[in-house]
Amino acid sequence: MPRKFFVGGNFKMNGTIESIKSIVHNLASAKLDPNTEVVISPPALYLLLTREHLPPNIEVAAQNVFDKPNGAFTGEISVSQLKDSNITWTILGHSERRTILNESDDFVAKKTKTALDGGIGVILCCGESLEQREKGTTVEVVTKQLAAVNDVIGKDGWKNVVIAYEPIWAIGTGKVATTEQAQEVHAAIRKWLGDAVSSEAAENTRIIYGGSVSEKNCKDLSTQPDVDGFLVGGASLKPAFVDIINAKH
Ligand code: G3P
Repeated sequence: MPRKFFVGGNFKMNGTIESIKSIVHNLASAKLDPNTEVVISPPALYLLLTREHLPPNIEVAAQNVFDKPNGAFTGEISVSQLKDSNITWTILGHSERRTILNESDDFVAKKTKTALDGGIGVILCCGESLEQREKGTTVEVVTKQLAAVNDVIGKDGWKNVVIAYEPIWAIGTGKVATTEQAQEVHAAIRKWLGDAVSSEAAENTRIIYGGSVSEKNCKDLSTQPDVDGFLVGGASLKPAFVDIINAKH
C-alpha cells in the first residue's frame, strides 16, 4: 500500500495566542489535499488552543515529551497528559534539542519508547552537521541515531514512527538540500530499515525531509521516491504552508 504523504508544521518557540489562532483558522479554511496527513506542532503552551481550533482531520503534535510518567519532574510534560489533551503525536530528537539541550541518543530512544507505549505517534528527527557531511559520515551519523531508538523500541515499534531527516546545515538557513541529497539519505535510511528492522518497516515507514522547505522547493522534493513528506519550520508559520501541504497536487 502506498505510504500516505505526511506534512508536519513545527512552530518551534514561535507564536502568540493571536498569531497561532490566525494560522490555525487559515489551515481550517484552506482546501487541503485529503491524501496528505497534516500534523501541527505549536509550543506546549498553545497545544490545547490549537487542538480546539483545528478540524479533526488535522492532528496536533507536542514538540517534546518526557520519558517518565506523571510525577516530580518540574517543567516536563507526560505522555498521559498529551493523551488527556487529545494530542496524538510528538516530535522527538530534534537537532535543536540534541545540540542546545544535549539530548543524547539514549534519552531520545527512551522518550520514543515511552511515547509509543502510551499510544502517541513519534516524529523522530535525525540529521548530520555540515562538518559531518563534509567528512562523508552523514549516513553513519543518521543510522547511529536511528539504531539507538531501534535498540529500545524493537522491530515492532516502528509502526507509529515517522522519521524526519533534517540536515542541521539546512535548518533555518535557506540552504535546502538538493533533491539528490535528500533522496540519497532517505534511500539510505530506508535501506537501513530493511537491513536492521524488517522489510515491512522499510516499506511502510514514512521518511520525511526537513530543512528550509518552502513553497518553491517542495514540489521537486516531493517527486523523490523516498521523500514521503516534510517537517516544516519557518514556512509553517506562513500562509504558503498550505502550498507545501498540497505539494503532491
Ligand atoms: O523541524 C523542522 C525544522 O527543523 C526545519 O526548520 O525553518 O528550516 O523549515 P526550517
